[in-house]
Amino acid sequence: MPQKLGVGIIGAGPVTQAIHLPALARLAERFEVREIMDADAGVAEAVARRAGARATGSVEALLANPDVDVVAICSPHRFHAEQTIAACRAGKKAVLCEKPLTLSVAEAEAVAEVQRETGVPVIVGTMHTFDAAWKWARESWGETAGSAHAIRSSIILPPNARFEDFATEVVARPADVEADLSDAAVRAQIAHLGLMAVGIHNMPHLRSFLPPGEPVRILDAEGLQPPFGYRVLAQAGECRIDLRCLMYGTWKPSWIFEAYGTDRRLHIDFTPSYVQAGSASASISTPRGTTSNAPTSQNGYVEEWDDLARLALGELPAPDLSVAVEDLRLAMSLADATAEFISKGAGQR
Ligand SMILES: NC(=O)c1ccc[n+]([C@@H]2O[C@H](COP(=O)([O-])OP(=O)(O)OC[C@H]3O[C@@H](n4cnc5c(N)ncnc54)[C@H](O)[C@@H]3O)[C@@H](O)[C@H]2O)c1
Repeated sequence: MPQKLGVGIIGAGPVTQAIHLPALARLAERFEVREIMDADAGVAEAVARRAGARATGSVEALLANPDVDVVAICSPHRFHAEQTIAACRAGKKAVLCEKPLTLSVAEAEAVAEVQRETGVPVIVGTMHTFDAAWKWARESWGETAGSAHAIRSSIILPPNARFEDFATEVVARPADVEADLSDAAVRAQIAHLGLMAVGIHNMPHLRSFLPPGEPVRILDAEGLQPPFGYRVLAQAGECRIDLRCLMYGTWKPSWIFEAYGTDRRLHIDFTPSYVQAGSASASISTPRGTTSNAPTSQNGYVEEWDDLARLALGELPAPDLSVAVEDLRLAMSLADATAEFISKGAGQR
């Protein structure tokens, strides 16, 4: 049997506990979790104990561990850049950085520079881009750039804790956010955070359909409710973009991405974050009929770890991180323009 790849995880919060450890449990023949780091020693120890791994409070110690081949960065956003750079400089075999890659385009460019210099493959945890349904959709649609006149993303989810509690008993969880929605600055912040935390997942899909070189203008926008609620209507060239996200105590969750061209429509039902129940379902309709993907049992999270294994073993070429930098640039510019639109009082409630 081939040797297992040793995994080191930086940041042991709900995403590590409820997403990555369950995904890795499905891939136990390929990976072994060997070290878990968290800034909170109690969390690191409790989570590492569950995974049968070593606990540490030091990023340097984890990166110096020769038994750690691949590293997952699951810390809060603001640490992603420095920790991804450190993992590349430590010469690890591959790095998975949770989304967003960084909190600024300059930081993302710095990560891409170090990635090029060190050659260490880095992927970003936008799991839906690894989903077999998205790969099928891209191949089946043909040339995507500039081919849609309308793009719609609608994300309606219960709070993350609902899914986390299905997956595991979470050790330590951030408190719920209170917000004064009568304050435009607060609504602007909610929309910005939502686009960077949830909308970011759609950036690779959105960007692939946008007309090249056309700036994205905000036509209308609003921040809806904490933690992540937004409604954004934008335009790029002739293409209208409608992005919505709501987190309610809701059932049934829904995560839809649609692109409308003159003679075809793409519809994808993605699985919600945290849910690992097979691939998304996608269909492309034309006047001649509808074709659909054949759903697979592998979810985007498992697919991203599968890619990470193949990258670490040299079975796949390192992805060009400038693609992730452009995804981040689009997310940042949309989030900044949306927040500015709302704080100027231009949004309608
Ligand atoms: N792919 C997805 O579906 C998905 C879903 C939700 C969140 N995320 C992303 O996953 C990441 C983690 O999310 P979360 O909800 O677990 O976050 P969180 O903030 O609740 O927990 C992160 C953990 O990191 C620890 N931490 C704080 N500072 C640290 C540091 N400097 N180094 C290492 N650890 C540190 C905290 O103690 C905490 O245990 C975020 O980047 C988030 O955007 C991804």
